[in-house]
Amino acid sequence: MMLLTGAAASAAELESSIARGGRLYDNWYKEKKLDRPEAAHAAYPAGGKYPKQSWRCKECHGWDYKGKDGAAAKTDHLVPIKGITGMAGKDPATIAPLFRDKNHGFAPEQLNDKDVQDLALFVSKGQMDTAKFIDPASGKPKGNAAKGEVYFNTLCAGCHGLDGKKVSTGVPLGQASDNPWDMLHKAFNGLPAEAMPALRSLDPSIASDTVAYTQSLPK
Ligand code: HEC
Ligand code: HEC
Repeated sequence: MMLLTGAAASAAELESSIARGGRLYDNWYKEKKLDRPEAAHAAYPAGGKYPKQSWRCKECHGWDYKGKDGAAAKTDHLVPIKGITGMAGKDPATIAPLFRDKNHGFAPEQLNDKDVQDLALFVSKGQMDTAKFIDPASGKPKGNAAKGEVYFNTLCAGCHGLDGKKVSTGVPLGQASDNPWDMLHKAFNGLPAEAMPALRSLDPSIASDTVAYTQSLPK
């Protein structure tokens, strides 16, 4: 039997930690099968429209990681909080303490040290520059939808159906693609607590082309 050792093993572990960090960023309590905290997060502004989502990183910092300066600005999810793009490339050891700081206050019962480490890796190494894949002004995916159809039919349709309508809890993927940044994040990192694949170890054009194709699926 071949064993993965040394650099190969750690590169593989790194990619899966980053993807898990991405799923925690989407919804850490779902990924960890915990209950959603009852009260709104202390840092969530009083006038915010989505207090029930307020413990999710994406609700304050956005699906495009740009916070108030990104795609959320055109939606009712807008809150006056900056994005996390400034932390891309920073040492994960300097990012990790942020999750226990006064802005965040995540208790170890909510995010343990492994969770914090995965999140810090995601923030440091996992954020994609979404503008490469989605035009920030129009929200139009830049990928090649014809190639994306091939990827979708082989990678996604087994679970979601060729029409993207085979979903148990969510909306048809054609409808989910109305928010292409959300779709792109999930394509790269997988879905919290679901057996959905994370495409981040493949060439980024595969996720990008797939997202472009999902826009033509029925809603
Ligand atoms: C209820 C809102 C809220 C939630 C949820 C939230 N944050 Fe924050 N976050 C903030 C605020 C407020 C700041 C400080 C912004 C500032 O300094 O202007 C911040 C700052 C940050 C920063 C530093 C950004 C920088 O460039 O200084 C990072 C990284 C970060 N958050 C990541 C996360 C991650 C990962 C999660 C989920 C585990 C998360 N945040 C959840 C409100 C939130
Ligand atoms: C192993 C099965 C599986 C595969 C393969 C899979 N998914 Fe999923 N996906 C799920 C499940 C389960 C859910 C969540 C429950 C539901 O909506 O059915 C989900 C949900 C989603 C959602 C969230 C929809 C919403 O309501 O927000 C998106 C987006 C998504 N999938 C995209 C994709 C894409 C793109 C691919 C192919 C790259 C893919 N999925 C492949 C199982 C899968």
